[in-house]
Amino acid sequence: ALQFAFAERLIAWQRRHGRHDLPWQNTRDPYRIWLSEIMLQQTQVATVIPYYAKFLARFPDVAALAAAPIDDVMASWAGLGYYSRARNLHRCAQVVVEQFGGAFPATPDALAQLPGIGRSTAAAIASFAFGARATILDGNVKRVLARVFGVDGFPGEKRVENALWALAESLMPAADASDADLSAYTQGLMDLGATLCVRGKPDCARCPFAEDCVANATGRQRELPAARPK
Ligand code: ADE
Repeated sequence: ALQFAFAERLIAWQRRHGRHDLPWQNTRDPYRIWLSEIMLQQTQVATVIPYYAKFLARFPDVAALAAAPIDDVMASWAGLGYYSRARNLHRCAQVVVEQFGGAFPATPDALAQLPGIGRSTAAAIASFAFGARATILDGNVKRVLARVFGVDGFPGEKRVENALWALAESLMPAADASDADLSAYTQGLMDLGATLCVRGKPDCARCPFAEDCVANATGRQRELPAARPK
C-alpha cells in the first residue's frame, strides 16, 4: 500500500523538512546542476560547497570550462579527490561545446552518453535542470529503498541493483506530475538519505515512513542494505 502513498508523502516531507538553500538549488542552469552532481558523487555536501563556489567563479559557464587548460581544471579540483571526475568534467564540457553547441542535452539517455555521467547522475540533471520524470538511484537512495521496502541482498550485485532500479522506477510520481513535484520528489529522496536515513544511526523518529518501514519494524536498520558478501 505504501507503494502508492510513497511519492506524495516524500514530496510533503521534502517541502517541510528537506533542504532548499543549497548553492545548486533554485537554479535550472544545467551547467551548475551538472557541476554540483559530479562534485557530489563521492564528496559530502559540506566539503563541496566552498569548492563549488570557487570553481564557478573560475569557470562560470561550460564554454569557459571547455576552453581552459586541463591543468587549471585539475588545480581547481585539487583537494576533492577522485581526480578522474575532473578529467571527465573537462572532456564532458568539450563534448557539450563541440557536439551540442554549448547546450546540455535534456534527456537522461543523452546525458548518460557524456563522460562522467552515469544513469543516476543523468537522471538527477534531467530532473533538476529540465523537470524530466527521471529516476535516480545513488548510494543514499539504495539505502532508503532497501530499508523501507526490505530489499535483501548486496546492492553491488547486479540482480539486487536491478530490483532496486525497478522499485525506484515504480515509485516515481506519475508522468502528469508538475516539474516542481518531480524535482521535490528527487530532492526528497536525496535529503531523506542524507539527513535521516543515514548509514550509522538513522533518525527513524522523524521519518515519514517510520510506520511502514520494514527495517524499522524489524530492527534491521543496521543490516539493510546488506553488506558485500564475504
Ligand atoms: N547529492 C547528490 N546530489 C545532491 C543534491 N542535488 N543535493 C544534495 N545532495 C546531493
